[in-house]
Amino acid sequence: GQKMSGLRKDFLWGGATAANQCEGGYLSGGKGLGTVDVIPHGEYRKAIMKGEMHYKDLPEDAYYPSHEAIDMYGNYKEDIALFAEMGFKCYRFSFAWSRIFPTGKELEPNEEGLKFYEDFIDELLKYNIEPVVTICHFDLPLTLVEEYGSWRSRQVIDAYVRYCEAIFKRFNGKVKYWMTFNEINMLMHLPFMGAGIMFEEGDNKLQVQYQAAHNELVASALATKLAHDINPENKVGCMLAAGDYYPYSCKPEDVFAALGKDRENYFFIDVQSRGEYPNYAKKFLEHNNIQIEMGQEDEKILRENTVDFIAFSYYSSRVVSADPTVGEPKLGNAFAGIKNPHLPESEWGWQIDPLGLRITMNTLYDRYQKPLFIVENGLGAVDTLKEDGTVDDDYRIAYLEAHIKAMIEAVEEDGVDLLGYTPWGCIDLVSASTGEMKKRYGFIYVDKDNAGNGDLKRYKKKSFYWYKKIIENNGL
Ligand code: BG6
Repeated sequence: GQKMSGLRKDFLWGGATAANQCEGGYLSGGKGLGTVDVIPHGEYRKAIMKGEMHYKDLPEDAYYPSHEAIDMYGNYKEDIALFAEMGFKCYRFSFAWSRIFPTGKELEPNEEGLKFYEDFIDELLKYNIEPVVTICHFDLPLTLVEEYGSWRSRQVIDAYVRYCEAIFKRFNGKVKYWMTFNEINMLMHLPFMGAGIMFEEGDNKLQVQYQAAHNELVASALATKLAHDINPENKVGCMLAAGDYYPYSCKPEDVFAALGKDRENYFFIDVQSRGEYPNYAKKFLEHNNIQIEMGQEDEKILRENTVDFIAFSYYSSRVVSADPTVGEPKLGNAFAGIKNPHLPESEWGWQIDPLGLRITMNTLYDRYQKPLFIVENGLGAVDTLKEDGTVDDDYRIAYLEAHIKAMIEAVEEDGVDLLGYTPWGCIDLVSASTGEMKKRYGFIYVDKDNAGNGDLKRYKKKSFYWYKKIIENNGL
């Protein structure tokens, strides 16, 4: 039998991926182009992700990692069997919107797309793996960008709700856990990648971003309502790219700066979780002359349809100082912060802070008092495949072990209510920020390199066997 730990008996151990980073098959089964299909690897990637360069201006030989990715589209049975072998209780993945509504404008869904996900979900259920679905993980049909300017327009709210209705009905009773938007706050950092926003000359960027945010928040609330109407058992979550800001020093100015930086992020899920714009956000908009165009019913929709759980990704904490001369802001997961002298960092410069996970969990739980779900965490690292087909990824095991320990302390010692833990990229996949394959997170190695060479064969890493044990013992 299972030993006791402070975690729920039905704790959802698993792993997480996203369609755009692993499926490939970018035009298979009637799929339309998604935003991510025009985001290249290489020197133009940042400018495209930021919405500052038009993808039509990319060179003809640009390489798009999403087109094939790790071909989970063709390999999902084998991949799910490996997840089952590790003992996954759940698997978090996303639907590619443009597989189901190729342009986003259709009134009826593409049956082939729905059928693909139905088979996929049935395969998970065969092994008793609970599907946890991200409805929109960094990709929307490109047509919605070209014709409506993406989330600038309320027409995209209608398209999203149509999409949600199709999937909630089709997978009713099979999928219970849903997330409306992956890392909704990414809109403020990488607007094209996060939300399909491209800037035009003369745009007031903040105005555009907050209007898009508002439209996404309304869409999220409408989806929550629909999910609950269709089946009261459905659980809908928001999803935040989390990681608390630390003040660089105890100088009150630094502490105040950290409060402000945290609010930039919490704004989104404050609305999704509490149902209204917080006062600090109203004042911020007012002082920056940002006018949000609201529909008559919007405030009511937001108020009446808050989320059931708070999902988040956590890779690192962040640091801010009120004094710009203290340190160069550096990037980690698209969020600028300065170096924390007390923390080691990954090969990609992301700072490693397990206690920061416990701190972030406490902040979130104190703020919302709703169950939390850690739906991303992990270490992107260079792996070496040995002659015998194994990978000694002790560094990954060390990272995950420390974070799992901190997570259990937050539950056992602080009383945080936690639904589950799904480390990111449980199988190697394309990196979102860099487009690389070299930056690997998986328990399963996939033979492919940055340029697209490799036979896509899967290999079990040392961490595969380690994670299987962790799940078996419910974290002990
Ligand atoms: C999160 C995203 O930002 O971090 C994922 O939700 C992403 O899509 C993950 O892959 C890790 O980031 P990266 O840039 O290392 O792939």
